[in-house]
Amino acid sequence: MEPGNIAVIGGSGVYDQSFVEKISELEVDTAYGKVLMHGGEYRGRRVFFLARHGGKHSVPPHMVNYRANIAALKKMSVSAVISTAAVGTMRKDISTDSMVVIDQFIDFTKNRPSTFYDGKDGTVVHVDMSEPYCPLLRKAFLRAGKKISRELIDGGCYVCTEGPRLETPAEIEMFKKWGGDLVGMTSVPEVVLAREAGICYATIALPTNYAAGISGIPITHEDVLKAVDKNKEDLDLLIAGCIEEIPLERNCRCGVMGRYWKD
Ligand code: HPA
Repeated sequence: MEPGNIAVIGGSGVYDQSFVEKISELEVDTAYGKVLMHGGEYRGRRVFFLARHGGKHSVPPHMVNYRANIAALKKMSVSAVISTAAVGTMRKDISTDSMVVIDQFIDFTKNRPSTFYDGKDGTVVHVDMSEPYCPLLRKAFLRAGKKISRELIDGGCYVCTEGPRLETPAEIEMFKKWGGDLVGMTSVPEVVLAREAGICYATIALPTNYAAGISGIPITHEDVLKAVDKNKEDLDLLIAGCIEEIPLERNCRCGVMGRYWKD
């Protein structure tokens, strides 16, 4: 499969990518709406950057136009998306200083368009989610972590809630029993739509706080942003390192669903 361009989707606290060169702003029109992003270059590869919540963090997680974002990246011939996600940690052994290359999700969202294939054109698609996050991109993150001597946790289960409210301690107890490690509000449907579009996708999750009921400290959006900011330097190095490590050959199965894609 042909290597394509690379995109970074920045989550809470990540609104730019300083290492990308020759940056320009662009607006991409899709069947789902217009998307603002930046395009540039890094080490000879075309790289796009998209702030999931908008440049000024004005779009809440349940209102993000996930379909437009992924369709716009597909239009820009992106074949690999690496993303960041601020999360709450439900495990005492996953500290707020850590970074996790997640490998599973549990979908607890309730009210979001979560597929490109709504049956209107008669195409019925059931996308395989046995390995939701691209194994090659996950490995690229892990290699990048080694390069910058930053320990990354290899694997973790992200429970995606609808938001924008935070969880109750009872919900967190339930998610823990289900096997969840981290909780956030954006990985679904982003990861699913990327797979439907045949795009490789991986996420570096930053635990910014202990989830509700674990530390007893109320969770605020300001504290979440501050915690991401504390890690921003390493995060930028990690993303740049990950881009360097993305293999030119797409030796994974993420692209197979691309055959259903219609522009
Ligand atoms: N819950 C949901 N989303 C989050 C959290 C949390 O505790 N922290 C950062 N994003």
